[in-house]
Amino acid sequence: MTTIKNVAVVGATGKIGRPIVDHLLASKLFKVTAITRDGGILRDFPADVTVREVDYNSLESLEAALQEQDALVSAMAFEAIHEQKNLVDAAVNAGVRRMIPSEYGNDLLNPKLAAFPIYQPKIAIRQRCERMAAKNPDFSWTTIHNASFLGPDWTLDFIVDVKQRKADIKDGGDVLFCATTYDDIAQAVIGILTHLEETANRPVRISSVNTTQNELITIAKELGATDGWDLTYSKTEDLEIEALQRWAKGDHSDEVIAMFINRAFIGHGWGGYFPVRDNDLLGIKGLNRDELKAIVKLAIER
Ligand SMILES: NC(=O)c1ccc[n+]([C@@H]2O[C@H](COP(=O)([O-])OP(=O)(O)OC[C@H]3O[C@@H](n4cnc5c(N)ncnc54)[C@H](OP(=O)(O)O)[C@@H]3O)[C@@H](O)[C@H]2O)c1
Repeated sequence: MTTIKNVAVVGATGKIGRPIVDHLLASKLFKVTAITRDGGILRDFPADVTVREVDYNSLESLEAALQEQDALVSAMAFEAIHEQKNLVDAAVNAGVRRMIPSEYGNDLLNPKLAAFPIYQPKIAIRQRCERMAAKNPDFSWTTIHNASFLGPDWTLDFIVDVKQRKADIKDGGDVLFCATTYDDIAQAVIGILTHLEETANRPVRISSVNTTQNELITIAKELGATDGWDLTYSKTEDLEIEALQRWAKGDHSDEVIAMFINRAFIGHGWGGYFPVRDNDLLGIKGLNRDELKAIVKLAIER
């Protein structure tokens, strides 16, 4: 049976990469190597992490960095997902047993999302992993689907800004979506690396909590944010139409990307709410309402 010891992490100081590294180190099960574009730039790499500088355009450089690595966890930035193409090939050539490509979002196996241009790079990387695993039995992959991040600094700005008391309510505000804390996503990575057979060559679907925009506003009001809310209303169907039109005309702005993402995770029947099947396997306990309330409180006070 394969045991994972050496783990390389791409994006080790990134938003989700850093919690992943911290949890890998805290588990004391792994030796962690950070793969970075430029080791010369001052970054806050955690102690106990070996740093290897790479050029994502050079297969040779990537293969050298991945020598003796059992697993590769990618937390590559959204705008650089395509950079993982060579990374997949190098991982296979270097003998990496498990790759977790950078996903950490909506369920991209939902066929409705397959048509969205913003998700094509992630879908292409997963398909490359599938092809590589079919040809190389020693190589395998897992993608993590957690729908929305859940943290005082993320969901609660993007979905409901409880600090500024501001939100654009989509589709009435009662559509359930999955949301996952950074800690639980990091736990999923550890769960995958310690349950290789059960998680081989498939997506895992996890969630800390299922919630709605209206529930988050209700919780904020319970915490004292009662007055002065600036609420606007939109339909995700309209967002999708506008986003597709603007994208076709070359508008790839953050505003358009956000329209696609909102359609994907709040649109009923799309990729943001799914049966959560892997929490137990991966050791994710999830949050009760009081714990969700504590995160909302942190976001209000931040
Ligand atoms: N579900 C959600 O709500 C949600 C929210 C945000 C992000 N995500 C997903 O989570 C994953 C990671 O996102 P993140 O926000 O954590 O990433 P991030 O902090 O923006 O960036 C992660 C790392 O990517 C590396 N990188 C390599 N090439 C790059 C390039 N050309 N441009 C920019 N960065 C580059 C950088 O590491 P070095 O500088 O060390 O090379 C960077 O620190 C993505 O798949 C993203 O779509 C999901």
